[in-house]
Amino acid sequence: MSTAQQEKIQEHYDSVADIYDNHYDLPRGRCYHTHISRLLMESLPHNAALLDIGCGTGLFIEKYRDAGGSAVGIDLSRRMITRARRRCATSDFLIGTGESIPFADNSFDAISSLLVFSYLRDPDQMLREAYRVAKPGGVIAICTLGKKLITRGIPALYLISEKIKVKHVVMKDFGERYFDEEEMYDIFSRAGFTDIKVTWCSFAHIDMIDPLFRFARKVEPFVERRIPQLAYNICVTATKPEDGSSPESG
Ligand SMILES: C[S@@+](CC[C@H](N)C(=O)[O-])C[C@H]1O[C@@H](n2cnc3c(N)ncnc32)[C@H](O)[C@@H]1O
Repeated sequence: MSTAQQEKIQEHYDSVADIYDNHYDLPRGRCYHTHISRLLMESLPHNAALLDIGCGTGLFIEKYRDAGGSAVGIDLSRRMITRARRRCATSDFLIGTGESIPFADNSFDAISSLLVFSYLRDPDQMLREAYRVAKPGGVIAICTLGKKLITRGIPALYLISEKIKVKHVVMKDFGERYFDEEEMYDIFSRAGFTDIKVTWCSFAHIDMIDPLFRFARKVEPFVERRIPQLAYNICVTATKPEDGSSPESG
């Protein structure tokens, strides 16, 4: 992804910051967001220090903090950060990118990133940075749209909705990139992470019509367990080795 595309993402999220929570923090969106948050929370240490990359309006930080941890967030968009500060007044938020994390080495026990990975200008660089700021033994958990038959048509859909000027929180052509399991294993191990686990989640989508959404919610646990080919979000958890060895030194 180019720098121009990253600027476009930033401008977009600045422009939707005030309506973002209507999408993910009202009953239906909350249901979706809580579902993926729970999955990530299960793999992260609790009562620990967390960095959330692409924190948006602070939805995950709020949940992590309510579960007893402390959390800081970084995001590309100044206006998303403003909303996050309003939501979680006691947490710290900084404007910044995942590709250049404004924290010292070995600072965090846990790193999260929800619905951001497909937007990254340089995912390898983001993971190198995440590895650098994680403490030895620290855990990273991310969730993002994965590469699946069902997501293949999304870039075209986003392009069309942009052309016909659909006002939507996420539907724009940002040159997003989706990854499958193998690519996730590769990219996380290249950055030095070990104990990499990849799972698929989410069958109910917030933009489905009501009866379909209700049905999809009902069968979601079954789909995730038995037919993950139909789930569209990919979750990855991984650990920075206890010896904190640098990826370059192997
Ligand atoms: C779909 S929103 C997800 C926000 C939040 N994680 C959530 O779960 O609600 C994507 C967010 O990623 C941010 N973002 C995109 N690219 C980024 C990057 N390279 N570094 C940091 N934040 C980024 C956007 O500004 C936006 O707030």
